[in-house]
Amino acid sequence: LVAVRAEAGVGGINPSIRKEEEKVVDTVLAGELSKPLTPYCRCWRSGTFPLCDGSHLKHNKATGDNVGPLLVKK
Ligand code: FES
Repeated sequence: LVAVRAEAGVGGINPSIRKEEEKVVDTVLAGELSKPLTPYCRCWRSGTFPLCDGSHLKHNKATGDNVGPLLVKK
């Protein structure tokens, strides 16, 4: 059932990011972070994924959800 739902695009959390990939995985080396605090997207709506661009605010307002970024400190 899960495979059928995924094929149909039903019930997935990711609406459009890198859908050609079997699994979206990113690796970040903490020592290479350019800013002291870097926000990473957890809502799958960011236009700059894997970085947060604030799109979670629009998503939360439209859906009543409460998602936000993962903040990584250097
Ligand atoms: Fe996805 Fe901010 S845009 S958590």
